[in-house]
Amino acid sequence: MSNVKTGSALIQGRDVVSLSTFSEEEIRAVVARARSLKAEGFEAPLRGRSLAMVFFDPSLRTRASFAIAFTTLGGTVIDLSAERDLWPLEIRDGAVMDGLADEHIKDAARVLSEYADVIAIRALARGGDWARERRDRVIVSFQKYATVPIFNMESVLDHPCQAWGDALTLEEELGELRGKCMALVWTYHPKARPLAVPHGVSVMACKLGMDLAVAHPEGYPLDQGVMTTLRHTAASTGSELRFVDDPMAAAEGADVVYAASWGSLDLHGRAEAEKERRESHRDRRVTSELMDRTNDARFMHAMPIRRNVEADDAVVDAAGSLVVPQAGNRLHIQRALFTSVLGVE
Ligand code: CP
Repeated sequence: MSNVKTGSALIQGRDVVSLSTFSEEEIRAVVARARSLKAEGFEAPLRGRSLAMVFFDPSLRTRASFAIAFTTLGGTVIDLSAERDLWPLEIRDGAVMDGLADEHIKDAARVLSEYADVIAIRALARGGDWARERRDRVIVSFQKYATVPIFNMESVLDHPCQAWGDALTLEEELGELRGKCMALVWTYHPKARPLAVPHGVSVMACKLGMDLAVAHPEGYPLDQGVMTTLRHTAASTGSELRFVDDPMAAAEGADVVYAASWGSLDLHGRAEAEKERRESHRDRRVTSELMDRTNDARFMHAMPIRRNVEADDAVVDAAGSLVVPQAGNRLHIQRALFTSVLGVE
């Protein structure tokens, strides 16, 4: 087993719900631990421990990396689909439960805590008003009522394990990240995609002192609360933070182009109006021409990626594309996170 102990000492017992709740030192320590585990291997420190995963939405990478990380460390995993396996859940405190819901989320969280050492939740937006959705009520309820650490496997607002894995990939590729430049480029997608990935990766870049240029069309800003976090974080780490419309301007001199698509917040829950706005930006995708403006940048995307819609095949399959190693590193960062939170060496 690795002798990198700093990660476990720093974040033992913590919830992993947003990277914004971790310090630069803590983020770097977990990345260092992941690199050590990846290079040196590990034994089975999670023997006798268990993970309960609850999915309210589909997943390939997160589901596979969480389950394989925990089981290869010796633990046991139960994978629950909320729709297929759980009783319909009530989330309102004090509700008179005479409707469709058979179980309160309070009871589900408490009961799962009796069985599992860690509970992991994926719960995306349900298509309502953004002011309501951004409260992230499912994950916040699990945090409130569970008695074991909660992992966010992607919520309305954040995707911390994706961002933490991306930090590992970036550090492997670029070395020290302070002063390196990331262009986060909004791309067209036929569906309004969640904001969790752009939020998470932006916070990660600023926490680690990267300069960040976010390019998005009018009507597609990030969440106001997240932007406030980004500004405070950038001020403390010395990151240069820019928001621009033109993706070419963001790409100029960048060391990494991170492509992502996200929906429009003021039209959140108004699918037809949002789609009409988004359709006017169909040409926003990452091309070789855009990559040529960069400092020989790496290309990143959290996946799943719509080829030749979000980015051209020539970009996704280029030597500088990190999309597959990036997905692969989800496994390594997850081992580091589980062992750190559970305090095992
Ligand atoms: N990047 C990511 O979270 O992929 P999945 O949605 O497939 O888990």
